[in-house]
Amino acid sequence: MKQTRIPFIAGNWKMNKTAAEAITLVYELKAALAGMEGVEVAVCPPFTALAAVKPALAGSSIKLGAQNVHAEPKGAYTGEVSIPMLKDFVDIIIIGHSERRQYFGETDQSVNKKVLAVLAAGLEPILCIGETLQQNEAGETKNVLARQVSAALSDVPAAEISRVTIAYEPIWAIGTGRAATADDAQDRCAYIRGQLRSKYGDLADQVRIQYGGSVTPANAGELIAKPDIDGALVGGASLKSADFTAIAKAAKP
Ligand code: PGA
Repeated sequence: MKQTRIPFIAGNWKMNKTAAEAITLVYELKAALAGMEGVEVAVCPPFTALAAVKPALAGSSIKLGAQNVHAEPKGAYTGEVSIPMLKDFVDIIIIGHSERRQYFGETDQSVNKKVLAVLAAGLEPILCIGETLQQNEAGETKNVLARQVSAALSDVPAAEISRVTIAYEPIWAIGTGRAATADDAQDRCAYIRGQLRSKYGDLADQVRIQYGGSVTPANAGELIAKPDIDGALVGGASLKSADFTAIAKAAKP
């Protein structure tokens, strides 16, 4: 089943890189990844760099994504960016990253609205889920994941589920240098796929599940070789072209 899913490596640049810096990084990635086949690669720069990065990516298979979006198409939402605005630039939008949930008040309900809006616009969400350290230590991880999956995918029809990528990102592993072990990450990703199977049947085999949280060139290969891990959502290491390139190459089947 894994063979039918193309590995997917996405770089979440977070609040890093001016437009000029973003272009430099993208040119490095374009050169380093030229001709690579069998792996889907995307970069998700800040909003302010999208207009510069889009033409810089011309002639490359690297896809462009955003890190967040508002669910409404327009209106009085000071400081927000809508899907029609982003659609000129991106194919992919990261939704519900734990930093958005933690610092910007996003909830399972607001995440669900955004997922539905992104799918309705024909774009592809990367839906982020994951447990806190406290939940992990209390043995609540799978309950948390089940709740997050079910809430975020509420009303998502079977016909659209294959356009969703799920990023399993244990919050304690993000930016800490302490990744989950490959076995633990596989166990959680298999559990998530099981949740998808109970809702969508065999379509669950078409959904890509990434692992995220301190992915590096050193651990990427072992993680992505696992049967239910179909790639990675990469933060810190996506800001260095050599590291991100090595991670993308490690994903080659
Ligand atoms: P990290 O971040 O790779 O720096 O741990 C991952 C993420 O937040 O998506």
